[in-house]
Amino acid sequence: MVVSNEKKLLLPGRPLRNATVLVIEIALSFAKKRLKACATSQNNKGFYNHLGAKMEQKNRAKIIAVANQKGGVGKTTSAVNLAAALAKKRKKVLLVDSDPQGNASSGLGIQIGSLEQHLYHSYTGGVPLTDIILKTKVVNLSIAPSNIDLVATEMELISMEKREFNLQKMLATVSGNFDYILIDCPPSLGLLTVNGLTAAHSVLIPMQCEYYAMEGLAQLVKTIRSVKKIFNKDLFIEGLLLTMYDKRNKLTYQVADEVAKHFGKQVFKTVIPRNVRLSECPSHGQTIIEYDIRSSGAMAYMNLAGEFLKQQRV
Ligand SMILES: Nc1ncnc2c1ncn2[C@@H]1O[C@H](COP(=O)(O)OP(=O)(O)OP(=O)(O)O)[C@@H](O)[C@H]1O
Ligand SMILES: [Mg+2]
Repeated sequence: MVVSNEKKLLLPGRPLRNATVLVIEIALSFAKKRLKACATSQNNKGFYNHLGAKMEQKNRAKIIAVANQKGGVGKTTSAVNLAAALAKKRKKVLLVDSDPQGNASSGLGIQIGSLEQHLYHSYTGGVPLTDIILKTKVVNLSIAPSNIDLVATEMELISMEKREFNLQKMLATVSGNFDYILIDCPPSLGLLTVNGLTAAHSVLIPMQCEYYAMEGLAQLVKTIRSVKKIFNKDLFIEGLLLTMYDKRNKLTYQVADEVAKHFGKQVFKTVIPRNVRLSECPSHGQTIIEYDIRSSGAMAYMNLAGEFLKQQRV
């Protein structure tokens, strides 16, 4: 009779040897499992599930693109003030101003006209991102600033290979220095936004409660799906944020209901009210937290930061 090696080892009459082999086998199987777990966590960076759960890894920032191709819906206001609120909650935050309008930069008090180096130089000129990042007046908050020169980036990227991955590569060099990186995207679905979505783990979508909001949203969701399919399979929607929420306006409720119907739990519970202090603070080069911490706008963004952070721990 042919006895397999495995069986031979377990033959009676060799109890001591068998026990040793068994112990080795168990140890090996544990080691294998640990190796497998390690490899999986390396691949996933052990970091998120599709809901964005399990966060706070020490050495790598979570990257959130703030995007909506519709203009004036509160992307920059939300990117700047959520970044400031997270910084206030002692998170190290980098805000990437990926919009040639440079509103996030000027809103943080940066003289964008006199910048020697900015995002454009990192995007296409090979200047390390660390060289262009500036500390802001807000403790824990840094910015990669931009100005109108960034318009040229979009054109220069067209002729480049792997043009969708530039920002991802740039952010990889600084990711270890921050807890969160927020990207303020421009109001278009061009290469700057695609770079933002490719570099990000998740996308936060600010939307104004107005009649055409849903229409633009469908197009954005389509783009997110395409980016997910082609460039960034793990990208997910962090949440939809209702901005300039006006309790007195019936349309606000109708749009909010419609959004909730389509996106359910993906809509942040926190809404950002229409608040004149929020529209004033950029002209003073200040975030709402510095400008008027007691305003309804400041409280809303602090609440949003709280909700956002809670979401990371699910
Ligand atoms: N909650 C709010 N209450 C009052 N005004 C607001 C609020 N949010 C944004 N605003 C104002 O609305 C205008 C558009 O906001 P913001 O610049 O944040 O939008 P955006 O989506 O970044 O615009 P763009 O598409 O041009 O980049 C700004 O003047 C801003 O100050
Ligand atoms: Mg903007």
